[in-house]
Order: sequence, then structure tokens, then C-alpha cells
Amino acid sequence: EYENPPKICCLGAGYVGGPTMSVIAMKCPNIKVTVCDLNERRIAAWNSDTLPIYEPGLQEVVEEARGRNLFFSTDIDAAIRECTIIFVSVNTPTKTSGIGAGEAADLTYWELAARRIAAVCNQSEDKKPKIIVEKSTVPVKTADAMARVMQASCIGTDFQVLSNPEFLAEGTAIEDLFQPDRVLVGGPTTPQGHAAVQCLANVYRRWVPTERVLTTNLWSAELSKLTANAFLAQRISSINSISALCEVTGANVTEVANAIGVDSRIGPKFLKSSVGFGGSCFQKDILNLVYLCRSFGLPEVAEYWHQVIVMNDWQKARFARNMVSSMFNTVSGKKIAILGFAFKKDTGDTRETPAIDVCKALIEEKAQIGIFDPKVSREQIYLDLGKEAMDKVQIEDDPYIACSGAHAIAILTEWDMFKTLDFAKIYESMQKPAFMFDGRNIIDLEALEKIGFNVWGVGKASNILPY
Ligand code: UDX
Ligand code: UDX
Ligand code: ADP
Repeated sequence: EYENPPKICCLGAGYVGGPTMSVIAMKCPNIKVTVCDLNERRIAAWNSDTLPIYEPGLQEVVEEARGRNLFFSTDIDAAIRECTIIFVSVNTPTKTSGIGAGEAADLTYWELAARRIAAVCNQSEDKKPKIIVEKSTVPVKTADAMARVMQASCIGTDFQVLSNPEFLAEGTAIEDLFQPDRVLVGGPTTPQGHAAVQCLANVYRRWVPTERVLTTNLWSAELSKLTANAFLAQRISSINSISALCEVTGANVTEVANAIGVDSRIGPKFLKSSVGFGGSCFQKDILNLVYLCRSFGLPEVAEYWHQVIVMNDWQKARFARNMVSSMFNTVSGKKIAILGFAFKKDTGDTRETPAIDVCKALIEEKAQIGIFDPKVSREQIYLDLGKEAMDKVQIEDDPYIACSGAHAIAILTEWDMFKTLDFAKIYESMQKPAFMFDGRNIIDLEALEKIGFNVWGVGKASNILPY
């Protein structure tokens, strides 16, 4: 009963909606895909040569499909009216006030989107059946709530609500979308629900091998997304907890990670010890999981997962504390160079980046900070660190200038370009003793030690004694 091929639109042109829809459009040239947003500037940017987000390979994908079968628009109502499959990929930030503040997801945007869909369906003449797809991460049972909002406010249109969580990682979004480990489509276990699931699954099957397109019930799909992110973050907190033990015992966390990673039951990925994980998903999703567990009367489960965040916060704080204590317990008035501000390499995104915590801690200690990041804008850094920080922070377009005159360097993002910097030249330009704190374990610390640096790497023995 669904039109074939189904026209597709997406509400929300962000980090998830933009790249996902662009890849669907590129892979399915005969499907019309429209990406909508309330934010006119964002849509204008998607229609320009300067896309609103940086993602390797994205530009090429957009250029191939844009104007052919991929469109970016602010006319949300027209898109809803025209399309069979409506993705909802709006933001779901953590609530800052009211019940569940600091943990629960703020679903205002999701609910507003649902009500908008209902209103447009009510007004439109033809009562084409609609498939509404939850694409943003939201707590389990949201699809149910949405279905109820729709049922109560949308008369005469047949619709199904599906959950199709996105597993792409920033920096590798296009690769991940081209060759996903799996695509997950959850839906109601009724015949109508099943038909809707197949309709959406068939879109993905145009380029994803069919055995990788998993179909489940709604709750399993929603919970799988939270669980996947919680497990991934847990691996990082686990190896980071061991990094602290390595530093005091003389073990090397990279060696330990390699040794456990070859066990096929553990696996080698996601075992890189770091200054801490960041990004828009891990913390938010774990807090959601914690909130869910509490609200279902499972405090022990909530506490178990909450420790992943506690460990991450500790790792970030520990890194900054270590810097201060090794620099003779004071950084007041000292220039410190920060290399990398994004939450990981190959993205300009700074959401929940550990660099914010580290910089704020150093500013609190009255340090002068010079920041270099190849992709994060000056405006974004000032926004993240706050107005108070303006006179303490200098943002540079050149890593050598950021380091010049500094007492210490902290590497906070694993950008490839940092590996090939001329550290002998940098050393010459710095105050002595010159310190290097590698928060990502990407630098050959022995080589730096030979140059004369005092070095410290997460989970490594170091030549810096706590003062
Ligand atoms: C994550 C999930 O990987 C993805 O499946 C989901 O859809 C969204 O959330 P993302 O946040 O974009 O993706 O990046 P990811 O590569 O997972 O990195 C998250 C954080 O963990 C980064 O700050 C990264 O530097 C850190 N990290 C990752 C480590 O510190 N060590 C590792 O071994 C891996
Ligand atoms: C374990 C380690 O696997 C092994 O590498 C180490 O040398 C000794 O300790 P073992 O205790 O013999 O080996 O058995 P293992 O297969 O690891 O199972 C341990 C327990 O976990 C069992 O009770 C098993 O039933 C349980 N388990 C294992 C689960 O409940 N779920 C799983 O998915 C796997
Ligand atoms: P994500 O990382 O989940 O993609 P983003 O914040 O990058 O989140 O993007 C979400 C986008 O959704 C924002 O650009 C926001 O303007 C947009 N948005 C929020 N509510 C609506 C709505 N009701 N209709 C269309 N777009 C919306």
C-alpha cells in the first residue's frame, strides 16, 4: 500500500540527519529526499559550497545528489505533505531543569515535530499512509509516546512509528553509512507495523547487504542504541581506569590494551586510553539509561552505568590536576598550549569535548592559554569556554605560534597533523623546563625526551615526578 519508491523527508538537518539523508539520496537516485530544518541559516549552508558540518567525504556526496534527488528546505509542511517516510532527527539535549534535570532527555523538539506532522496530515486532502521514523536517540518508549500523540491528534491518516537508530560516528560518518556493521529497524509487531518496517528496510537494502539489516520490535531497537553507546563508553572508562594504575606501577597502558585486545572475546577496538571521551552521544545516552533504570525501580543498574561517567569525569580532572602538580604546583600566569579542541579528530564538533574541562580547570588556576585546532572555529571555542575566559585565551591559526613561549603543551585531540610537527623547533621556542602532556598517546615520547622535554602520557611511565 506504500508508494514505491517512497518519497523521503527528514526533520532536522544536523550531524545525523544531514549526512544520513545525503547518503540515502546518493545511493538511491530514484528516491526524492528532502532535508528540512527550522534553522534557515543551516539550510542555506547545506545549499552552499560551505556545508554546516565538516565530515570527510560529505561534500562529494552532497554535490553528487544535491539538485538531482536531494533537496534542503525550510518548507517543512510541504515536505511532510509530499512524503511517505518522514525521519525525525531533531536534537534531544539533556534536560536542564524540571523532573530529570541533568539526566533525562528534553523531548520538546521531538514532540513539537510530531505535533507538526499530525497537523499537516489533518489539513492535507489525500490521506496517504505515513511512516514516521525516529532517528534521534531518545529514551526507550518514546516511539510509543509519539504514536499516542499522533493517534490522538491525527485523524484519518494511517501512520506507523518506527525506530531506526543511527550508529554512525563523527569523522567517519560517510564510511559508516556506506558500509554499516548493521542497520536496525524496529517497529510494531502488527501486520501494518511489519509492512512499514519492510518498506524502510528495503530502502537500506539497496546498498546494505540484507543480512546486515536487522529488524526488531520497537523497544529492542531503542534500547540497543543506548546499550551500544553505554558499552562503547564503558570500554573507554575501563581502560582509562587501568591507565591510572599503569602510571603508578610502571605498566604501559598501550601494551596492556594490545595484550587484552588480541583476546577475540574482548577485541582490539575502542581500547585507546585518553584524556576522556566526549561527543554528543556517550554521556547523554548513559545519563538517559541511568534515568530509565531509576524510573523503572532499578537503582543498582543505574549506579552501575553511572560509574562510567564518574570515571570519565575523574580522568578529565586528573589530567588537568597532573599538569598543574608537575609544573611545580602552579600554572598561574604561565602560557599553556592546547593542541586540539574537538572531541575527536576529523570533526569540528566540540560537544562535551574533554578540552572544555581541561581548559576551564587551567583557567581556574590562572593560566594563559593558547589554543590551536585545525577545524574548530574561534567563535565556537569562545562559546564553549565562556565570556569570562576571553582575556585568558588566545586562539591561533598556527600550532607553532600556539606553542611559542609556552611552558607546556597539552595534546587533547588526536589530529594526525600533530604527529608530524617539528618538536625540536617547538622546543626551542618554549620556556624551560618545557613540558609535554599527551592526552591521546599519539606522540613518540621517547623522541621528545631526547629533545629535552619533560613528558607525560596517559597510562605511561614518565620522567615527570609529581612535585
Ligand atoms: C559515538 C558512537 O561510536 C556511534 O556509534 C554513535 O552513533 C554516536 O556516538 P561519536 O561520538 O561520533 O560516535 O565518536 P566515537 O568515535 O565513538 O568517539 C567518542 C569519544 O570517545 C571521543 O571523544 C573519542 O576520542 C573517545 N575515544 C574513542 C577514546 O577516548 N578512546 C577510544 O578508544 C575510542
Ligand atoms: C575464565 C577466562 O575466560 C579465562 O581466560 C581465564 O584464564 C580463567 O577465567 P573460566 O572461568 O574457566 O575462564 O570460564 P569462562 O568461559 O570465562 O566463564 C566464566 C563464567 O562466566 C562462567 O560461569 C560462565 O557461565 C559465565 N559466562 C560466560 C556468562 O555468564 N556469560 C557469558 O557470555 C560468558
Ligand atoms: P544531531 O547531532 O542529533 O543531528 P543537531 O543539533 O546537529 O543534532 O541537529 C538537530 C537539528 O534539528 C537542528 O538543526 C534543529 O534546528 C533541528 N530541529 C529542531 N526541531 C525541529 C523541528 N521541529 N523541525 C525541523 N527541524 C528541527
